[in-house]
Amino acid sequence: MARSRTLELVSKYESNRNSTLNLIPSENVLSFDVLKALGSGMAGRYAGKPESYAGSKIFHELWNDTEELSRKVFHCRFANVLPVTGHVAGMMSISALCKRGDDLATISADFGGYRGYNDGYIPSVMGLKVSYLPYNARFCNIDLNGALELIDKDKPSIVILGATVFLFPHPVSKIAGAVHSYGGKLIYDGSHVLGLIAGGCFQDPLSEGADVLLGSTHKTLFGPQGGLILTNDEDIAMEIEERALYTFVDNFHLNRVAALGVALEETKIHAASYARRVIQNSKALATGLYDKGIRVEGQENGFTESHQVFLNYGTKGEQIRDALETNGIISDSKVRLGTNEVTRRGMGTREMNGISDLVVQTLSGSKSPRIRKDVRTLVSRYKKIQYTLES
Ligand SMILES: Cc1ncc(COP(=O)(O)O)c(C=O)c1O
Repeated sequence: MARSRTLELVSKYESNRNSTLNLIPSENVLSFDVLKALGSGMAGRYAGKPESYAGSKIFHELWNDTEELSRKVFHCRFANVLPVTGHVAGMMSISALCKRGDDLATISADFGGYRGYNDGYIPSVMGLKVSYLPYNARFCNIDLNGALELIDKDKPSIVILGATVFLFPHPVSKIAGAVHSYGGKLIYDGSHVLGLIAGGCFQDPLSEGADVLLGSTHKTLFGPQGGLILTNDEDIAMEIEERALYTFVDNFHLNRVAALGVALEETKIHAASYARRVIQNSKALATGLYDKGIRVEGQENGFTESHQVFLNYGTKGEQIRDALETNGIISDSKVRLGTNEVTRRGMGTREMNGISDLVVQTLSGSKSPRIRKDVRTLVSRYKKIQYTLES
């Protein structure tokens, strides 16, 4: 029987990742039920609106249920599950709220904003001019007075809050007030913090005044990779819906929508306790690192209110990422450490202290096989995924 080289690589990848400690804040681990929906026969099928494809009635029921679950989990009136990624959710929302030549204000990627909204990326394709909200690097947040001044002066059609390096809630209500005063719109990209928002533990952008809340469904929300758009504004919801099919997606991956439905069922039960624990764990990890002599951003405000701990190694980031990987600790080159996956695997503040030891030993130049072994042992003790329909 022929063996698949691709499947061999998949299995090699899985066994490597299963023996390492994943601290990437953009990722999470999927439950068996979510994987089952993702790998179901819905993969590879089509459905549309109106129902142009025969055989899709049951999917339409599931699609409606998933939208309803999204509305319930995020306490809003309209939900759109079509975007195949968070980036596409951003494009769909921007396109619904702006026209060519309009101005957009957002956070610069130099300060942790999402690069996709910066000049040269989505705004360039859509013909939008970009300005950057002043940022207070010391407090790791938007400089509110500076931002209000810029908004008052430039009156951008849209302002996008939310970030890639996202430690503290953004000043949504004040910025919403300024943007709405001249008829502008406020988008909040909650890609990183959607699971924390679902748990009521970060901030509630829609009730604070954002017109649109969007995000990836796979970072702190433990769904399949995909995107979600939420709003209370019927006109915006209609505009997004009308532009979605055939502009941003055609086949929108039915299996992904099914997997999102399952993840939202899990979220509905567990969001609050999961989100609380994620934040407790990041605070514990940040404190552990700081107490052992590591510089951790956000010290002025207690390091973090999210799933992220930011070590900010600048141009040395890749070196640090590689050193951590040598010892089996998986991070990114910024260097942000995320507690979302380890929390879902059941780890608590005691384990965070242990992880801070392993990170500190690595950062002090140690490459001893003992650290790699300790990482393997820790990971092997937390294989069972928590916050599922059975737990
Ligand atoms: C703030 C923010 N928005 C959007 C995205 C893009 O999300 P996705 O990977 O789901 O397209 C990212 C990527 O991590 C992000 O950090």
